[in-house]
Amino acid sequence: MSSTPVRVALLGAGTVGAAVARRLADRAEVFAGRVGAPLELTGIAVRDLGRPRDLSGVLPGLLTDDPGSLVDSADVVVEVMGGLQPARGLIERALAGGADVVTANKQLLAQHGVEIEALAEREGRSVAYEAAVVAAVPVMRTVRDALAGDEIRSISGIVNGSTNYVLDMVARLGVPFQDAVQQAGDRGYLEADPTEDLEGLDAAAKIVLLARAAWGVQVGMEDVQREGITGLTDADFEEARGTGQVIKLIASAWCSGPAADRRVEVAVRPTLVGAEHPFGLTREGTNLVIIDAESAGTLRLSGAGAGGDETASAVLGDLVNLARARVRAREAD
Ligand SMILES: NC(=O)c1ccc[n+]([C@@H]2O[C@H](COP(=O)([O-])OP(=O)(O)OC[C@H]3O[C@@H](n4cnc5c(N)ncnc54)[C@H](OP(=O)(O)O)[C@@H]3O)[C@@H](O)[C@H]2O)c1
Repeated sequence: MSSTPVRVALLGAGTVGAAVARRLADRAEVFAGRVGAPLELTGIAVRDLGRPRDLSGVLPGLLTDDPGSLVDSADVVVEVMGGLQPARGLIERALAGGADVVTANKQLLAQHGVEIEALAEREGRSVAYEAAVVAAVPVMRTVRDALAGDEIRSISGIVNGSTNYVLDMVARLGVPFQDAVQQAGDRGYLEADPTEDLEGLDAAAKIVLLARAAWGVQVGMEDVQREGITGLTDADFEEARGTGQVIKLIASAWCSGPAADRRVEVAVRPTLVGAEHPFGLTREGTNLVIIDAESAGTLRLSGAGAGGDETASAVLGDLVNLARARVRAREAD
């Protein structure tokens, strides 16, 4: 065990960031054992230093409103502030300064991930983002690593828990659509800007990241054939009910055409599925991703796609892996 710590800068102490900080404090010894060196949380950047937040167990005095200085002295930067800027600038500054990066920021990655990954490669650093797609459910890792020796044919999924909650309330309990949206908001399921969820933008970002990982293609948000759930009418739900089906917001990506001229298509749209289909049986905020691969066949991955602790689980998994790789590289020098 090395006594030289791996210095970790945390950007954000909201739903996800606070859960990451508490876990780092609670489980310091376990993480040190797994990494081969202590993980030292050097600071936590926030916007409003005076805002009350639950950082029980975390050393006092770590909060700062100067994320730049924090990034400059880190070995690994964990970005859980969200938004495009200043998150993008800070991630680029971290990579250029020799740090590795963990992020949960799906919108930033979907829009600028290609440039960010290219920078990481030039700098010989890593960007890990398992948490950006379906939180703790290891979908990215399955698509990118576990199936790297296979040929993925298609990926489809319920990847947005809040819209699934709304559609489930309408289909199963007969709650009127607008009331179900209101309930999802009251329970904190909707993003600050609910159109992210309701218009399928959140799901589109996730399927873009999965398609890139599956086929190494540069698909972007503009390539997604996207339709949200706000245009659904009572008649649509009635029709579904009458035919033993339910409406789900399905994100999908598939590969078509010959190998030499492969086309990847990505879509997010409300889709009729049988009430007894695994998608039809996916309740409330649960997510389900179905991957069809040539040799592996059909794989299903399911679980909570959001939540502070759940998302922190994926962030911390990436952090432990990157920190461990840094310790090994240090030892090899
Ligand atoms: N919540 C989930 O379940 C979930 C699941 C998967 C992925 N994600 C992703 O994880 C990221 C974080 O989500 P969240 O729900 O934790 O967000 P959040 O609760 O809104 O927290 C954001 C944090 O970042 C800080 N922050 C924002 N802008 C900043 C700035 N300009 N300078 C310094 N600090 C800034 C905020 O500071 P203040 O506290 O002072 O406002 C806050 O602590 C997002 O990219 C989101 O898409 C979230």
